[in-house]
Amino acid sequence: MSGLRIEKHPILSIPKRKKIGLYWNNQKLQAYEGEVISSALFASGIRVFGHHVKDHSAQGMFCANGQCAQCTVIANGIPVKACMSKVEENMVVQSVEGLPELPKVIDNFHFSKTKKIETDVLIIGGGPAGLSAALQLGEKGIKTLIADDKDRLGGKLVLQTHKFFGSIDDCYAGTRGIEIAEILEDKIRSYNSVNIWLNSTAMYVFSDKKVGVITNGNQYRIINPKIVLNAAGAREKSLIFPGNTLPGVYGAGAFQTLVNRDLVRPARRLFVVGGGNVGLIAAYHALQAGIDVAGLVEALPQCSGYKVHADKIKRLGVPIYTRHTIVSANGNEHVESITVGKINDSFKPIASTERTYECDTVLIAVGLNPVDEFYKEAEQAGIKIFAAGDAREIAEASSAMFNGKIAGMEIARGLGKEDKPIPKTWYQKVNILNTPPGVEQAPDYDSFPEENITPVFHCTQEIPCNPCVSVCSKGVISIPGDSLLGKPQIANNDCIGCNKCVFICPGLAISLVDYRDDPNNPVVSIAYEVHNYEYKKGDPALLTDCEGNPLEEAVVIDTVINKASKKTQIIKVRVPKEIAKRVAGFRIQRDEVTLPKKEITLDNAPDDAIVCRCERVVAGEIRKLIRKGIKDLNQIKAITRAGMGACGSKTCENLILQLFKEQGVPLEEVTLSTIRPVFVEAPFGVFSNISSGRRDEKTL
Ligand code: FES
Repeated sequence: MSGLRIEKHPILSIPKRKKIGLYWNNQKLQAYEGEVISSALFASGIRVFGHHVKDHSAQGMFCANGQCAQCTVIANGIPVKACMSKVEENMVVQSVEGLPELPKVIDNFHFSKTKKIETDVLIIGGGPAGLSAALQLGEKGIKTLIADDKDRLGGKLVLQTHKFFGSIDDCYAGTRGIEIAEILEDKIRSYNSVNIWLNSTAMYVFSDKKVGVITNGNQYRIINPKIVLNAAGAREKSLIFPGNTLPGVYGAGAFQTLVNRDLVRPARRLFVVGGGNVGLIAAYHALQAGIDVAGLVEALPQCSGYKVHADKIKRLGVPIYTRHTIVSANGNEHVESITVGKINDSFKPIASTERTYECDTVLIAVGLNPVDEFYKEAEQAGIKIFAAGDAREIAEASSAMFNGKIAGMEIARGLGKEDKPIPKTWYQKVNILNTPPGVEQAPDYDSFPEENITPVFHCTQEIPCNPCVSVCSKGVISIPGDSLLGKPQIANNDCIGCNKCVFICPGLAISLVDYRDDPNNPVVSIAYEVHNYEYKKGDPALLTDCEGNPLEEAVVIDTVINKASKKTQIIKVRVPKEIAKRVAGFRIQRDEVTLPKKEITLDNAPDDAIVCRCERVVAGEIRKLIRKGIKDLNQIKAITRAGMGACGSKTCENLILQLFKEQGVPLEEVTLSTIRPVFVEAPFGVFSNISSGRRDEKTL
């Protein structure tokens, strides 16, 4: 398993896990107890999980979040989603070649009664928003049930190895997402009125105002809540391009799940499509896991994510191509390369600008859609329902925590357990945390003194973030005007070189320049978190400015990592004073990683690109129907089967809507698909709580 398992990581600890065996298409493999099937397969180098019934094309994982059903395999005779099902000792797993066979009829089974559970509040999703809401409810002793489909609380927080933005008091700024998840969980578990169900999927909201939940894969429960909070998060959007269903093309969030949660190294070299925060952070997480990043394309003239995130990866040697898009993912059974090209102001490809880069993985990071089907159905059923986090509005996790807190208070008030009004400042803070990044400006390095010791700020864009101000005990750093949104400035010359601001900055955008020893050749301290590329005293480092432009090669004179640094390392170099304030990082990636393979012009027709990955329906088929005047997704589904597959149109509906837009049909004129129960696939027997004696049947 060596090489494909992450055995060393700058931020994550590697737990000791028990090895177990499993069989994949009759071949014995090794897995870790408690991990999901897809990660065990990836760790053994298996990324093709089957072949589609319609065109026999290879298929593998896409979302790693139970949303797309592309990862279906047969485990002990039953079709399951490999990304959601845990490996069992000596489990027999087979690829799905065509349509999976129905499981054999069990003759040794019994039905059991479905348990009915009363609760004041049901929270669907134990991520940042759900947990923050539960904290409010727990404090007031309100009977609350959290149902989360994963095996641990935290949602997307458990994938985040980087530090959070915002403010320390409001949303743990400067603390890593994985640590915030632990803090929230510890607090929640101290409240007796909050019950937590892990591995539990909310299946549907019924017209009698009850919610069906399957827990541990085989126990069906009916919940009767007074109020529901939908904090189910978001699902990743897909894109239409030739090769979009090839194994090796997957969502950036799926990649973070494999790398940061399951400690699997699923790629040797990858390319990212999308320059929002998710794509930029995924590229950074890849480097932390020792994976090369050949580049990132963004269709807009500038990345929509924070500039500090973009700068961080540019400094490490990842090129970002704005006004570019993916032309195709290329390969036979798996991604072997990506072709990208320039686009014009109307987002149309510019001929003969295509370049192909070698990579085995393409990450799609083009945005998220709220998981809001519960909300819509609950509203129709007349249940009182609230939404928080990404299920309400796609935003940063810091904002999700805050609007979860507000939702918790609103629910408590709705139940008559809270009289106080919700402070207006809470709503103002959510707005601030949701503020999109401001205009990028050139750094004003002349404003920093050239004596004593001084922090230098390389963040040149207004974003909601101020932990550097909070940690400075000498008041050296201030933010004028709004305390969260402005850019940090030097307030006095009292810096003592404690490095606290360098350690806490989530964008790694503060360096410290120390002129005390030698004013003409000061020492610069830079924050560093990619220890797979280890730097030690005496090593050469190609220094760069904040945007990754090379400055000069220097020698590392010292490195610092200690308890206070919380896994951020400081690399010290001595440089001429003329460049000292501009030094913001150093390059770690070799140039050859980022060079294009060869110039090619593709003749793939976009009409060939797959829109519905479950039923392999291509864009051309749908365009034809739109041009004929069809504006109802249900009709398109009936004619082409698009949206009829296992994922229940969670992946393709958004893509079909894009085709309507492309064909000039206003979306207000389009009839959406009728939602049918249930939201998530489950074997029929589960609803009668059938048990065969084969599975672990702990009851709740
Ligand atoms: S990859 Fe498993 S459901 Fe999408």
